[in-house]
Amino acid sequence: MTRKLFVTTALPYANAAFHIGHMMEYIQADIWVRFQRMQRDGEGDQRRPREVHFVGADDTHGTPIMIAAEKEGITPQEFVAKIAAGRAQYLDGFHIAFDNWYSTDSPENVELSQGIYRKLRDAGLIQTKIVPRFYDPVKGMFLADRNIKGECPVCHAKDQYGDNCEVCGAAYQPTELINPFSVFTNATPVLKDSEQYFFKLSDPRCYQFLKDWLNTPGRLQPEMVNKVSEWLGESGEKLADWDISRDAPYFGIPIPDAPGKFFYVWLDAPVGYLASLKNYCAKQGIDFDALLNDPATEQIHFIGKDIVSFHLLFWPAMLKFAGHPVIDKLKVNVHGHLTVNNEKMSKSRGTGISPLRYLNLGMNPEWLRYYIAFKLNSKVEDLDFTGDDFVARVNSDLIGKFVNIASRCAGFIAKKFDGKLADTLSPGAQQWIQRALVTSEGVERQANIAANFEAREYGKALREIMEIADITNQYVDENKPWILAKDEAKTAELHDVCTAALILFRQLTILLSPVLPGVAANVTKFLGDSQLVWADTDVASGVVSQAMLGRTIGAYTHLMTRVDAKMIEELFDAPGQQAAAAAQPAPAEKPAKAARQAAPAAVAAAPAVPMPEGVEELAPQISIDDFVKIDLRVAQIVNCEHVDGSDKLLRLTLDVGEGRLRNVFSGIKSMYQPEELVGKLTVMVANLAPRKMKFGVSEGMVLAGSAKDEKANPGIYILNPWPGAAPGMRIR
Ligand code: MSP
Ligand code: ZN
Repeated sequence: MTRKLFVTTALPYANAAFHIGHMMEYIQADIWVRFQRMQRDGEGDQRRPREVHFVGADDTHGTPIMIAAEKEGITPQEFVAKIAAGRAQYLDGFHIAFDNWYSTDSPENVELSQGIYRKLRDAGLIQTKIVPRFYDPVKGMFLADRNIKGECPVCHAKDQYGDNCEVCGAAYQPTELINPFSVFTNATPVLKDSEQYFFKLSDPRCYQFLKDWLNTPGRLQPEMVNKVSEWLGESGEKLADWDISRDAPYFGIPIPDAPGKFFYVWLDAPVGYLASLKNYCAKQGIDFDALLNDPATEQIHFIGKDIVSFHLLFWPAMLKFAGHPVIDKLKVNVHGHLTVNNEKMSKSRGTGISPLRYLNLGMNPEWLRYYIAFKLNSKVEDLDFTGDDFVARVNSDLIGKFVNIASRCAGFIAKKFDGKLADTLSPGAQQWIQRALVTSEGVERQANIAANFEAREYGKALREIMEIADITNQYVDENKPWILAKDEAKTAELHDVCTAALILFRQLTILLSPVLPGVAANVTKFLGDSQLVWADTDVASGVVSQAMLGRTIGAYTHLMTRVDAKMIEELFDAPGQQAAAAAQPAPAEKPAKAARQAAPAAVAAAPAVPMPEGVEELAPQISIDDFVKIDLRVAQIVNCEHVDGSDKLLRLTLDVGEGRLRNVFSGIKSMYQPEELVGKLTVMVANLAPRKMKFGVSEGMVLAGSAKDEKANPGIYILNPWPGAAPGMRIR
């Protein structure tokens, strides 16, 4: 039976350009898809190419996009279209071979989402409940958490969002905000009852189904099975109903028979997978329903660890109870996140790498594909991009091991043998080929490698491929074609060695082609193949050498250059370049936050100097006028004590020479005992607005130094003026 694979990646929010984390997900999925496309199923003459349908789409609906469009004075459709127009340059640039790229804002998605909803309703799994929601009486609109601001109920910082405080990090309900106001009209929101539609995940049928689905062997990664089991609880008691409705105005899909109600974006987003497939099927003349009903069809999603609950609870339950036929063949592959220099990516902090800048610098997309693949396994683990590591890995493996074989041997075939490979191989050469391709236990390496690609253990697959390259290079080193070439009597030997090395080079190329499709295409041409197929790696069948012997190959052209470490320096955002990043739309869930964080960078005048690794980037340049606004004073610590209930703070009583004492909280408890500090001088910001904190009001801030990576280097050191300084002196 020919496997039919319906493969997707998560649908990215259509409010921002792709970042390098998106590219990582696409690279992971694309490698898997390309590997599958090289396979044939069936026996003997019946073998047929595996059928793979790889689709993606933009995730378009929801409040953030609606608001972003409103700010630009365009319709959400126009906004989304602009983002969609920018996708191809990334996807093509990194050789991501989707069969179709579509949109959740499409007729197919409306039809499919509403159809699924109707079936869930018929199954008795939709329920309405009356819930109070914040409402803007001036705009006449229900407010999402991020449309409401007010004073943090915990630290009393002003101007905080309805869901969490960016000053103290507290999370809360919008109804807990002090003096809440609508971001649209500044009006005080009122609570208004609203009828909402819920998907009854608490129904015992959902628990029964999910438990079985989840525990089907081989379906999910073990860590995901554990995680979802926790969510389910002993008997499903932890499963809460899921609010799937939003009130107008909302950019989304109307709920049937519910005027003024729309599907919450996460209801229709995964249905977008099906919508994209359906759109593709129509274009290709494939019967969509027949494909989904075919027992040979498997549905496979690649997603990141942050969106697991949607894909491992709601989505399978929706599909199951809407009668989706391939539910038994639904698999969700979860990956960790890409970090850059061990930091979470953040445009505003300047640690992100722009995929477009990467391409514009002329960096080879296949370097990144290889590097990411080398670091990927089948677990839900984060992986880190580090410049030095990237340069070392690519140069050592791809240039030093792989390309090197062809560049050392192909020239002799062209010069000495008119491009023709030997007709036969010596027993010695045959032995080396065997040694390179078959392990000492007699296992064909290609079988291990295939199993590892299938299981998404790309790092393992590539390590084994590099072992083949190592043995091949050892063969070339021992036989030294460059010496053989100097001796007329050794011509046959030269022919033999170069032919065997190029046979192995072709094998390496086939094995690497899921990861390096561009290089593989060039090698295909150079070696005179029409197509490289996995079946040609079958050592036992003898095709490995037969395919090449006596063949005339083309001229060798350079396949890949080394990474120049200087490129890496340019790749990383320097703080002065953040204005460019800020110009990109902000991430979906927190549009205003990212825009605000990025704002100070936009005033940076001079381009900043990149800092050595581990040293924090300089803040944007300021003028002396900016500096004098900050009043720094020498302060005497007249008292210091622990703060009950806080494991970070010390309470300092400071004398800044003003004839009164100040109370200041400082997060230095990990470093100092209160008694050590009493009587000492230090430096404080004396004109900072007082801040109400959980433990009292803080009337200023003492200064302390700390490393960029506080996890690796957790010390925090307060300042101590030289003798002679006295309380009240200004620091300028
Ligand atoms: N729109 C939703 C997904 C809907 S799927 C029906 C969404 N979009 S997203 O743009 O925020 O993320 C898209 C994918 O990128 C997710 O799988 C997410 O995990 C992944 N990544 C986001 N940041 C990432 C990294 N730093 N590293 C790897 N993948 C990352 O969520
Ligand atoms: Zn707060």
